Amino acid sequence: MIIIGCSKSRELAKSIAKKLKVKYSELLVNKFPDGEFHIRYMTDIKNEIIVLVQTLHEPNESTLELLFAAYTAKDLGAKKIIAVCPYLAYMRQDKRFNSGEAVSSKYMGQLFKIFDTLITIDPHLHRYKNLNEAYPIKCIKLSANLLIEDFIAKNYNNPIIIGPDDESYQWASSIANKIHASAAVMHKNRFTSNKVRVHLNEEIDMNKKDVIIIDDIISTGHTIFEAIKTIKKDKPKSINIIAIHGVFADKKIYDDIKDNTKSIVTTNTIQNKHSDINVADLIANALK
Ligand code: R5P
Repeated sequence: MIIIGCSKSRELAKSIAKKLKVKYSELLVNKFPDGEFHIRYMTDIKNEIIVLVQTLHEPNESTLELLFAAYTAKDLGAKKIIAVCPYLAYMRQDKRFNSGEAVSSKYMGQLFKIFDTLITIDPHLHRYKNLNEAYPIKCIKLSANLLIEDFIAKNYNNPIIIGPDDESYQWASSIANKIHASAAVMHKNRFTSNKVRVHLNEEIDMNKKDVIIIDDIISTGHTIFEAIKTIKKDKPKSINIIAIHGVFADKKIYDDIKDNTKSIVTTNTIQNKHSDINVADLIANALK
């Protein structure tokens, strides 16, 4: 097995290879003057099982690079091609919300038919109940929940867990149950990408408590920031954020979140300065 670090996930790929004690090689990714990709393997991959590690942050560029890498690997005679996409983009486009729209998650699944296996972490499964509804290949869905539970157990004493919307139930409530913490899930209305409203459906006393808001993705950050504004009214001791995938697409909202919280923690499915939870072991174990 050879672990190949694509451009968005080189550090993670290196540490997966180190944990598995297998060869690591970097995919050379350059651009021609007009912006087209030029990619090249720097090791012989004929008859090898190759693992392409690429998070789908900045989704269009990262996906095209990954697909070119996969087609090249097939051309060069790789025996098996495994995609490790710690963050799987386009999963939220899981139905046609308005007439004429693309159901992008399904088309991603079609494009991924070149792979033998897809490994990902906490994909956004909302209307789909499992990944095979979009991806017609072998899929391994990992979860960072245990890592988050450990992190909370080590760093907090008796926190309150809040999920900022109904979908966050699968992360927030399940983590809260495991660590025996009180939890509540908010209800969210999303009007546009940049306009959301959240409210708590149930009474929960957050006064003078450490509150942790847990969600799968911080994309623009509007969901989390709306949750923060609601929670602040209860005067908690601290507000903390834990998310699996830290996209942070909106700098202004990111600053607002930072200014109104004690801590922000994400995993390194997308490397950023809050990536304090490392998923390398989780992925390495799935590849054994
Ligand atoms: C959606 O339902 C997810 O669980 C997240 O809450 C959402 O994707 C976050 O998006 P944003 O940060 O743009 O509000």
